[in-house]
Amino acid sequence: ADGVAAAVATGFRDVPDFPRPGVLFKDMTPLLADPVAFGRVTAALAGLARDLEAGAVAGIEARGFMLAAPAAERAGLAFWPVRKAGKLPPPVLRRDYDLEYGTAALELATSVVRPGERVLLVDDVLATGGTARAACELLEEAGAQVAAVVVLLELGSLGGRPQLGDRPLVALRTLP
Ligand code: PRP
Ligand code: MG
Repeated sequence: ADGVAAAVATGFRDVPDFPRPGVLFKDMTPLLADPVAFGRVTAALAGLARDLEAGAVAGIEARGFMLAAPAAERAGLAFWPVRKAGKLPPPVLRRDYDLEYGTAALELATSVVRPGERVLLVDDVLATGGTARAACELLEEAGAQVAAVVVLLELGSLGGRPQLGDRPLVALRTLP
C-alpha cells in the first residue's frame, strides 16, 4: 500500500494556469509513463474491486479509462466506459453536469449493465465532484449499485466529497 501512495505522490505533475489561468492542473502523464508505478496503482484498484465484491469496474472518459480498463482486466471483471456525450450509439442514458465554467454531459451504454451489479467507479482526480456524481447517477439509473468511487487524487478544498452523498469514496491520496 505504501508503494501505491508513493506512486500517486510522485506520479502527478502540477501545471499552473492550465487549461485556464488560475487552474492548477494535475497531470498524470508521469504515472502512465512509469510501468512500475502504473502497475502498483492498477493492482491496488483491482484489489479494491475484488475486496468490494464488485462485478464491474467503470471508468470516466478520458483519464478514468486509462486506470479503470487495466484494473478491470487485472481483476477479471467487466469494464464499463462512461463516455463523454455524443460518442456512443443508442441505447444510452445521458446526464448533464456542471463544470467550473459551463456544462458537460456523460453517457452510459445500458446494454452492458447487469441490474443490481456492484460496480467500482474509477477516475483520476476528484475536484468539484460534478463529474463523479454524474457518473454515479448514470450507473444507478441503469440499475447498478456503486460499491465505491475511487480516485487517485482528491483535491479536498474543492468540495467534491459531499457531492457523492452516501456513496463510499476511496482516495489513494488526499490533498488539503
Ligand atoms: C477531469 C478529471 C476528472 C474531472 C474532475 O476530467 O479527469 O474526470 O475533471 O473534475 P470535477 O470533480 O470538478 O468534476 P476532464 O473531463 O477535464 O478531462 P479528461 O477527459 O482528460 O478526463
Ligand atoms: Mg476526467
